Amino acid sequence: MPIPIILDCDPGTDDALAILLALASPELNVLAITVAGGNVGLEVTLPNALALTALAKAKVPVHGGVDRPLLGEFVPAYHVHHDNGLGGVVLPPGPSPTPGIAADVIRDILRTAPEPVTLVGIGPATNLAIALVTEPALNIHVRQIVLMSGAWKRGNVTPAAEFNAYSDPEALAILLGTGHPVVFASLDLTDQALATPARLAAWRTLGSGRCLKAACDIQSAVPLSARFDGKGAALHDPTAIAWLIRPDLYTARPGHVSVDLAPGPDRGRTRLDTSGHETQNALVLETLDADGFFTLLGERFASLP
Ligand code: RIB
Ligand code: CA
Repeated sequence: MPIPIILDCDPGTDDALAILLALASPELNVLAITVAGGNVGLEVTLPNALALTALAKAKVPVHGGVDRPLLGEFVPAYHVHHDNGLGGVVLPPGPSPTPGIAADVIRDILRTAPEPVTLVGIGPATNLAIALVTEPALNIHVRQIVLMSGAWKRGNVTPAAEFNAYSDPEALAILLGTGHPVVFASLDLTDQALATPARLAAWRTLGSGRCLKAACDIQSAVPLSARFDGKGAALHDPTAIAWLIRPDLYTARPGHVSVDLAPGPDRGRTRLDTSGHETQNALVLETLDADGFFTLLGERFASLP
């Protein structure tokens, strides 16, 4: 049976590929896409999510949510995602947003879903946190929480912190306190998902559909990262989706994750303890079969219109 999910995102170039992957995968039942400001402002991320669902001809509700974190300042990443959030790639506009604010919609879905729902967060976790903290009784309707978030060694927005965790560390702390083990696709994992020119060129040979072309064009516009000596760019967000589809491509281990909230250079740092001495509130994705991952993505993008 398809896994029912709510996908919360901030498209964003890698979010765009994660959205297309989710929409192309019969293993998932995307009940709703909820959108936050993050990589770029909500006034851009929301239309991007709508354009992507329209491109894939998917009948999935798309709802706007927060345009800033719970506390702290809004810190976009235009230098990575371009002013339009999609690397400058222009898509045909999608429809208007589905009525309903993200946190309300998340709660409504959880309250009425016939089976527990997987919450997937690939942007700042603000929408998910607001939904769960304002109605804790809905926790029993959450199957699991899967996040692209965190870094155990080296951040990408500060030396200490990964972008999503840094953007709203209080929201991440709320999710870590729900009692559900949070599945983490951290930078330590996504660094293994290196989108190189060769991998993108291989995708382009798989078909001529507009979604495949958009995925290739969007990812090709992402600056090659100095983190990888200019060899490619880590493809972060789809790793959280792909784990739900093909967990066999990953290895994982339980652990305890905490997030630093204090102002200063460590704000947003995520700390992993695998000693077993702390309550294990996380499942940490450790390794990825990168070739299998990129093959999966190419096949799925090629299956879309
Ligand atoms: O650190 C990578 C994460 O931050 C990804 O979700 C990317 O889209 C940005 O939101
Ligand atoms: Ca994102």
